[in-house]
Amino acid sequence: MNAFIGDWIDVGSITEIPLRGARTIKRADGEEVALFRTSSEKVFALVNRCPHKHGPLSQGIVHGDAVACPLHNWRISLATGEALGEDKGCVPTIPVRVDAGRILISRVALLATAAAA
Ligand code: FES
Repeated sequence: MNAFIGDWIDVGSITEIPLRGARTIKRADGEEVALFRTSSEKVFALVNRCPHKHGPLSQGIVHGDAVACPLHNWRISLATGEALGEDKGCVPTIPVRVDAGRILISRVALLATAAAA
């Protein structure tokens, strides 16, 4: 069970995400959220759907603060959710922070429905 800390929900330890990798959690509406950990120990949260054709971003390769989609290799900014380079599109980001090695997700964002994201 996830712990509530004010407006944040503890969804686990940063060490549960492989370096330059991802894991997923479910939002209240069933939408999958991908949690990414970069080589510089930053953590980002995005809806796990590429803005191109809905590829699972969590299965992509993390380079710096971006992830390459596993289907057609679009590069998506982990900070903004925007497609980089020539590609156009954006996936919703979810407010996330790390406190003492624990990953905290915005409670409002995690309980939101897809329509409100
Ligand atoms: S579905 Fe992600 S690049 Fe095509």
